[in-house]
Amino acid sequence: SQNVVAEIKSRIGLFPNFPKSGVEFKDIFPLFQSPSLFHKVVELFEENIKENHQEVKIDAVLGLDARGFLFGPLLASKLNTSFVPVRKKGKLPGHVVSTSYALEYGEDSIEMQTGSLKEGDNVVIVDDLLATGGTMAAACKLVKQLKLNVVKCLVVIELTGLKGREKLDGTSVYSVIQYEF
Ligand code: PRP
Repeated sequence: SQNVVAEIKSRIGLFPNFPKSGVEFKDIFPLFQSPSLFHKVVELFEENIKENHQEVKIDAVLGLDARGFLFGPLLASKLNTSFVPVRKKGKLPGHVVSTSYALEYGEDSIEMQTGSLKEGDNVVIVDDLLATGGTMAAACKLVKQLKLNVVKCLVVIELTGLKGREKLDGTSVYSVIQYEF
């Protein structure tokens, strides 16, 4: 599986100074030009859950706006469970729970529809990238407001130098590939 991981990494596009100077943007979209590699990413997520959390029934996969939506529904289908989107504020109709989080400048909020999940349910959260961890930490906070249990945070890419894991209060994280920054 080291070979597969190397192959996945080779398909990530690297764009220096995007969206701003000093940042190297990691583009996951080239992965989708290879159906087998895209599938492999989701299989690695599935294997991680099955190997480490065999005893837990996963009640939902939560995907984070926007690129968590690319991986979440397929993983949910493989785990034979539901998919629930966590969106940026003002996008979801009906009754929602919200939580705000700090950005580099100002703050933003994320929201999730209530109703499909109940207290004590087990969820995994999926996104493409863990950077500062602000987004994932907000998703964990949202989930705790609903008294759900986060079994795992799953990301394709982790920027280890930004120490996003440390914002997650010990919640377990699996990343397929890593970069320092
Ligand atoms: C990116 C990425 C994660 C988040 C990670 O999304 O897809 O969701 O940033 O960063 P963090 O760990 O520092 O919070 P972005 O904010 O670019 O929004 P988008 O999905 O709308 O493009």
